[in-house]
Amino acid sequence: MYTQTIPADSQTDFAADVRVGLSKPGQKELPSKYLYDEVGSALFEVISALPEYGLTRADERLLRRHADAMVNRLSLPALVTELGSGSGKKTRWILEALSRRQATAYYPIEISPSALARCRQELSQINAVSIVGVERPYLDGLLEVAARRGPAEHLLVLFLGSTIGNFDREPGLQFLKQIRGILTPGDGLLLGTDLEKPSPQLILAYDDPLGVTAAFNLNLLARINRELDANFILAQFQHEARYLAAHQRIEMHLRSRVPQTVAIPRANFEVRFEADETIWTESCHKYTTDDVLSMAGRCGFECEGQWVDTEWPFAESLFVAR
Ligand code: AVJ
Repeated sequence: MYTQTIPADSQTDFAADVRVGLSKPGQKELPSKYLYDEVGSALFEVISALPEYGLTRADERLLRRHADAMVNRLSLPALVTELGSGSGKKTRWILEALSRRQATAYYPIEISPSALARCRQELSQINAVSIVGVERPYLDGLLEVAARRGPAEHLLVLFLGSTIGNFDREPGLQFLKQIRGILTPGDGLLLGTDLEKPSPQLILAYDDPLGVTAAFNLNLLARINRELDANFILAQFQHEARYLAAHQRIEMHLRSRVPQTVAIPRANFEVRFEADETIWTESCHKYTTDDVLSMAGRCGFECEGQWVDTEWPFAESLFVAR
């Protein structure tokens, strides 16, 4: 059906974020959102196909099996928006279930234009669904979508794939509260969260023997080379996945194998690495189903339903704004 895009009004300042993150005294870090350029998004698709990484398949299984039950608990009519469109593959099930009940507008919010394009390709064939891509940061995009709803129309926000896990716990709660602040009572938030599992299984999922996750992580340095003219030598950095039980999270790092200095001309600086010093590139928090219920209550939602995959512990939770 009919599709269009609301373009980004300002380009994110990659150079400034790289400079700030790599200038941090103590632990250097880079924002994980920059992992997802064209190459990174494609590598994440491959990660999702790896036998060691069951997260995306569990998410999709739950949506495929329970989309009708989820949709039945919503106040309709509702327009659908999604924070991070990804490939759009799992969203199909929700859109199909909804489109049997109402004509459905779908607004994927995504900073990556290539991901938006793929999502549109995947989903534009569904009957009675219109797609409007929103090329914006999540909350800006959500405000924009909320402003477009009709007077009697509810919002269903999809936040799938355990992307919430990239936030530290407290900022994650703040983020959910900000979402709640944009919603009105009766609006829904479908939240996907990866659940705790034995740490050897988690380590394998984030440090796969084929090296796809290593490539995904190292691509961040390659991207800095491509876009900011830097001279990172990729072979001098090593991918590392750690499980921190006390924080219930995986951390991905890039470890400098040698002492070295890297120039980043378009960010106007040079960065020094000691041997074994790391750049922290991503956190992936893991939850219990009770963690998720308590998050709902603390952020102004009621949890109206929770669906759990047993093959790869993962939860889909339907929060409704109180
Ligand atoms: C897309 C954020 C869900 O946390 O598992 C996969 C990203 N990083 N392998 C995750 C990721 C390394 C992924 N999320």
